[in-house]
Amino acid sequence: MEFYKIQGKNQLSGEIAVSGAKNFALKCFGAAILMDKPLNIARLPEIADVHRMMEIMSAIGVGVKHDEHNNTVQVDGSSVKSGDLRETSVGKIRASVLLIGPLLHRLGEVFVQHPGGCVLGKRPIDLFLDGFTKMGAEVEEKSDCFVLRTKRLKGATIVFPIISVTATEALMTTATIAEGTTVLKNAAQEPEVVALAEMLNRCGAKISGAGTSTIIIEGVEKLSGTEVECIADRLETATFAIMAAATRSEITITNCVVEHVEALLAIFDRMGVPYSRTENTLTIHKYDHVLKAVDIRTHEYPGVVTDYQAPLTVLLTQAEGLSMVHETVFEGRLFYTDLLNRMGAKIIMCDPHRVIVQGPAPLKAKMLESPDIRAGIAMVIAGLIAEGETTIHNIYQIERGYERLEERLQKLGAKIERIKA
Ligand code: UD1
Repeated sequence: MEFYKIQGKNQLSGEIAVSGAKNFALKCFGAAILMDKPLNIARLPEIADVHRMMEIMSAIGVGVKHDEHNNTVQVDGSSVKSGDLRETSVGKIRASVLLIGPLLHRLGEVFVQHPGGCVLGKRPIDLFLDGFTKMGAEVEEKSDCFVLRTKRLKGATIVFPIISVTATEALMTTATIAEGTTVLKNAAQEPEVVALAEMLNRCGAKISGAGTSTIIIEGVEKLSGTEVECIADRLETATFAIMAAATRSEITITNCVVEHVEALLAIFDRMGVPYSRTENTLTIHKYDHVLKAVDIRTHEYPGVVTDYQAPLTVLLTQAEGLSMVHETVFEGRLFYTDLLNRMGAKIIMCDPHRVIVQGPAPLKAKMLESPDIRAGIAMVIAGLIAEGETTIHNIYQIERGYERLEERLQKLGAKIERIKA
């Protein structure tokens, strides 16, 4: 089992380029199953979740030509032959729910175990199942899986009771070749939803309103293939920006879309983190003043998204005063704060959704386990500012979302090693 060894308390400097977005790339695979020509994906992030997704696709008969050297993959959904996802890696990645609708269209029957992903609260799939039922699928729950069946999916009006990124994307994708019109209300507005709609429209879909809370999809007969470049991973952009701020380093983040991280920059303004920006680069500047505490409350995009929360909490341990962190999207996404307390942070949990951070608190190195992707990267940031040598185990969780992390951070001068135990 590999682990990271991090020597803390050194400043970083230089440039780091952002990879393609995991949360866009993963969604392209489901869409490809609907296409009668191959989908060519460029700027593919070479991360564990994408590799698992390619395994799932191969297991169900989809053609996958992966060129790791050039970060591209060609996905040919026309050869799909099985809707049985039970023996695949579906349990490891939540985005695999995006395959259900396309497989229903193509094969009429899908067997799926509960999809996986990070261990973030309950993470149910009721919104997907309700949506597919409204579109004309029958859902049967068995002891080990769900079975979905349909003769023909039809358009429907679906009002989401809560905002869900993958449910919006799954039902939007499925509706493209359903019979009639689908209206999705209270839809997620993430940049990945917009990019997915744009890609599907290039293949012949008729989607309007993506990026707003109401998306309208007029079903078409078929979709052709296309070429698509993954959009920049805004969660990586935010991670590197917070890492620079926490280590008081001068770092320029390139190949990013700064507009996608505006909510983070608004927090930086209030805390006193100095930065400058162009459309596609973000530079965090060195500083020697003490940062100010701020309250943060996670919200769906364009708000302060939940994925910023753990790295930001590490930054808040270094700010002067009391900060309240209120996680509204997921249950169980604050338990990593115990690990920060073991490092010397002063964080009090009020309830499973709220903590109070008292800063500034010097952190000391510890041996840690990464709980999930974002809490894992938060541990890396904590290790970089702590006194001494931190080790982080269970780095599979981090590598699900960050490509060649240690190599890229070493180029910034970080003392991080990936060690095989
Ligand atoms: C996606 C992202 C993840 C990010 C999250 C919030 C992917 C692959 N993952 O996760 O990185 O942290 O958005 O920005 O894109 N919910 C239900 N029933 C459902 C589905 C969701 O109750 O059927 C709830 C969830 O438990 C959660 C809330 O809806 O409380 C939002 O979750 P959702 O937006 O669906 O997150 P994911 O799509 O899983």
